[in-house]
Amino acid sequence: MAEIIDGKAISTQIKDELKTKVSELKASGKSIGLAVILVGNDPASAVYVRNKKKACEYIGIESLSYELPEETTEDELLKLIDELNNKNNVNGILVQLPLPKHINEERVLDAISPLKDVDGFHPVNVGALSIGRKGFVSCTPAGVIELLKRSGIEIEGKECVVIGRSNIVGKPMAQLLLRENGTVTIAHSRTKNLKEVCRRADILVVAIGKPKFIDSEYIKEGAVVIDVGIHRQEDNKLCGDVDYDDVFPHVSYITPVPGGVGPMTIAMLMNNCVKSISLQ
Ligand code: GUN
Repeated sequence: MAEIIDGKAISTQIKDELKTKVSELKASGKSIGLAVILVGNDPASAVYVRNKKKACEYIGIESLSYELPEETTEDELLKLIDELNNKNNVNGILVQLPLPKHINEERVLDAISPLKDVDGFHPVNVGALSIGRKGFVSCTPAGVIELLKRSGIEIEGKECVVIGRSNIVGKPMAQLLLRENGTVTIAHSRTKNLKEVCRRADILVVAIGKPKFIDSEYIKEGAVVIDVGIHRQEDNKLCGDVDYDDVFPHVSYITPVPGGVGPMTIAMLMNNCVKSISLQ
């Protein structure tokens, strides 16, 4: 019988642990501040930012909110980041993506001090991950590792297949599984024989961005399936990249959508904020 990995419960557990840590830090005179920058009016981004601020409040992290108009210039944004890089009460800086089209995302992310880059997107942190140095790790893949570990799933020596090669999920996911001594394959849109590649996986992490793409034909009997996708269906219900009902009878563990990987991203962002104190 498959076990459902409860990301909501695990993320709450992590946030409660962090809350305790933050109050201990406060008792020793250290507080944590996260600057959250939102440019423009993207409704999905506004929801994400609101949830991040709510999590800060729950844990006891001070959130400093910068909600800037759509017309903000790249120079204005870079100037704000420079100021925040130099502010002692700001330990983490988060620029919500996507940015408006007239702003160069790469230039903006590169401007954030690697020591305050709680998203783990700065090239210095990306490089640090690949050579096993200390640094911030992208939150969603870090959350997946935490889900596996806290569910008692061993990674060492396992065949791990990651579908998707984005800078935010697929690539850091593969690096993290490798760091845990998994045998890692990255599959992507140009992969030939995707079904056969996936059927090798003891642990299959799916981040393709296509609703219900992965059905039981892609699954080895007894595999662990982690679904990073999230989509709104025509009936208004949410679904992932995995056809959950079709796959369920064949897996040992699976993450649901919603309530699987999703809640872990914010929990790991909070974890990075707490970590920022020891890195700085
Ligand atoms: N937009 C979608 N996901 C993310 C994320 O993890 N961090 C930031 N900053 N923006 C996002």
